[in-house]
Amino acid sequence: MKKIVTIAISLFAASAISARAADANQNWDSHCAQCHGKTGHADTKMGMKLQAKDFNDPKVQASFTDAEAATAIKDGIKEGGKTKMTAFGSKLSDDEIKALVAYVRTLKK
Ligand code: HEC
Repeated sequence: MKKIVTIAISLFAASAISARAADANQNWDSHCAQCHGKTGHADTKMGMKLQAKDFNDPKVQASFTDAEAATAIKDGIKEGGKTKMTAFGSKLSDDEIKALVAYVRTLKK
């Protein structure tokens, strides 16, 4: 009996994780991909114009912490009074932002 419960719990946990991953994937496509590109390569018009970095590059991934990434998503990035990256704090919940940080990490090649 105990074993069945354990299996049931782990199945439930696995489905919860994949549901969250799908959400982050969707959020990425609708909010982030126009600048960062679907694969994080930043090879879009907007991405090149704003000089977004290539998230496939391990050096770029190492250049910011998870906390810095979350702050950037929440508050956006400004440089010299110009908005480089839009703030998403009013559109996305803390959990969604956390999931997106994890998603960004999966783009590393
Ligand atoms: C309007 C274009 C634009 C959109 C939309 C955008 N970004 Fe960005 N983002 C940028 C640019 C440009 C940079 C690089 C800024 C710099 O470091 O000079 C950046 C940087 C980042 C960084 C690195 C932060 C750091 O501290 O170096 C992360 C992580 C990130 N974006 C995630 C996201 C996520 C997740 C989304 C969607 C919710 C998103 N971005 C939407 C343009 C955008």
